Amino acid sequence: MNSKVAIIGAGPSGLSQLISFKSAENNGENIPEVVCFEKQSNWGGLWNYSWRTGLDANGEISHSSMYRYLWSNGPKECLEFSDYYFEDHFDKLIASYPPREVLFDYIQGRAAKADIRDKIRFNTTVRDIHFDDNTKMFTIRVHDLKNDISYSEKFDYVIVASGHFSTPNVPEYEGFSHFNGRILHAHDFRDALEFKDKDILVVGSSYSAEDIGSQCYKYGAKSITSSYRSAPMGYKWPKNWDEKPALLKVNGNTAYFADGSKKDVDVIILCTGYIHHFPFLPDSLRLKTKNILYPLGIYKGVVWENNPQLMYLGMQDQWYTFNMFDAQAWYARDVIMGKIKLPTVAKMKEHTKKWHELEKADTSVAYAYKFQGDYVQMLIDETDYPNFDIEGVRLTFLEWKNNKKESIMGFRDKSHKSLMTGSQSPPHHTPWIDALDDSLEAYLNN
Ligand SMILES: Cc1cc2nc3c(=O)[nH]c(=O)nc-3n(C[C@H](O)[C@H](O)[C@H](O)COP(=O)(O)OP(=O)(O)OC[C@H]3O[C@@H](n4cnc5c(N)ncnc54)[C@H](O)[C@@H]3O)c2cc1C
Ligand SMILES: NC(=O)c1ccc[n+]([C@@H]2O[C@H](COP(=O)([O-])OP(=O)(O)OC[C@H]3O[C@@H](n4cnc5c(N)ncnc54)[C@H](OP(=O)(O)O)[C@@H]3O)[C@@H](O)[C@H]2O)c1
Repeated sequence: MNSKVAIIGAGPSGLSQLISFKSAENNGENIPEVVCFEKQSNWGGLWNYSWRTGLDANGEISHSSMYRYLWSNGPKECLEFSDYYFEDHFDKLIASYPPREVLFDYIQGRAAKADIRDKIRFNTTVRDIHFDDNTKMFTIRVHDLKNDISYSEKFDYVIVASGHFSTPNVPEYEGFSHFNGRILHAHDFRDALEFKDKDILVVGSSYSAEDIGSQCYKYGAKSITSSYRSAPMGYKWPKNWDEKPALLKVNGNTAYFADGSKKDVDVIILCTGYIHHFPFLPDSLRLKTKNILYPLGIYKGVVWENNPQLMYLGMQDQWYTFNMFDAQAWYARDVIMGKIKLPTVAKMKEHTKKWHELEKADTSVAYAYKFQGDYVQMLIDETDYPNFDIEGVRLTFLEWKNNKKESIMGFRDKSHKSLMTGSQSPPHHTPWIDALDDSLEAYLNN
């Protein structure tokens, strides 16, 4: 009998997995039966924007962490699929930092072309997974939210592609319960216009802090104060942006910082990252990790070592995204289809430990670009996923880094060369800082 594979989530990672099987089928191979469970009513994961915060239309926790006016924070050339090019999808060359809607369109175009939508059960939340040691099968209990029916189904393999930038990490500081303004996490941030003419404080010094602060600046916040715990972002900020060390406490509307300074603010936005959260998995199957490049427990960043019938996609911190999810999905597919033979558990653990330690050898981002590129290449070398110019991606990441250093509000006006087609992207028709309309129509109107 054909084996049966469950995929949890139809975001970019889950779609990569569906497309990987489709690609094998198109090559005439006999593929397993595949079912994808998606709790939202559409595919795309985080790219499927929702204005809702808190709970979604079905009373489930809202998955969306993206916001209006979000543009890609890295060059699109670094995430391009190696079997589906931007140039072909849009039928022309487009600039390097598309807004969310444009990237969503690109993801959807590839999924539609692969014709995999009928494999996805939408509005269906995975509630619980159990593995039977005797039958070696998983039982998955799901909730069909539209029909309000819960049912169970058995599978040979489970692929967890539920993302890890959706459950917020929310620290509390002294005085928060009496703060005279709004406190929110980045997960609940939606429209920067809400903060026009306000003094805002962003806590954190990574991508959410940088980008949400920049959005608020662009859409007219009165001032931005950002507070770092470990190290400043250190960009050349605009005049009304002040970078401070750690937040200590608030009193009324006043925020106090570790250097003894203080600032009155209207809003506090906690850009303090996310946690890996898998409420549907028992302890024995659950990945427990911080947001790093090489977590322990998953061989080649994919296979759950203690039970290789379970796999994870996209659980690493992400420089590479869409094409890394593809590399992982192709690898998972070939393990399931028996084309890749796994070593012993001891050997898998040893291999993972080596890479996990290697990540710590250097904390610079330049090293991280190389490290994750090497990881992606390791996976691609084992499957028929089309190889691409990983060294070119690394150099593009370095260009991006330098452009940000030069101008944090201007780096999105630069353009890069596709590592897939060699075409140089045109500059966007409007500087990012002046482009207030982030719609697909406005962006493509070049
Ligand atoms: C604010 C923000 C901006 C970002 N911007 C960029 C960017 O510019 N460029 C870039 O390359 N990357 C960006 N990312 C990174 C992002 O993680 C990836 O681009 C990508 O969305 C990850 O895909 P995924 O499928 O692994 O996870 P997700 O996109 O999170 O998709 C997971 C899916 O699983 C579903 N799901 C979850 N739990 C269940 C359940 N129990 N049952 C059924 N379904 C479930 C969810 O509904 C969702 O559809 C950004 C992330 C954030 C938070
Ligand atoms: N397209 C876009 O423009 C865009 C926008 C936003 C986010 N993103 C993506 O979203 C993902 C998540 O980024 P992220 O910035 O949310 O998370 P992140 O990269 O994990 O960073 C978390 C930040 O929170 C800080 N932090 C954690 N706990 C804290 C605490 N208790 N007090 C103070 N600071 C604390 C961390 O500081 P330490 O350094 O001290 O640990 C770090 O600066 C990334 O992949 C990013 O690329 C993209």
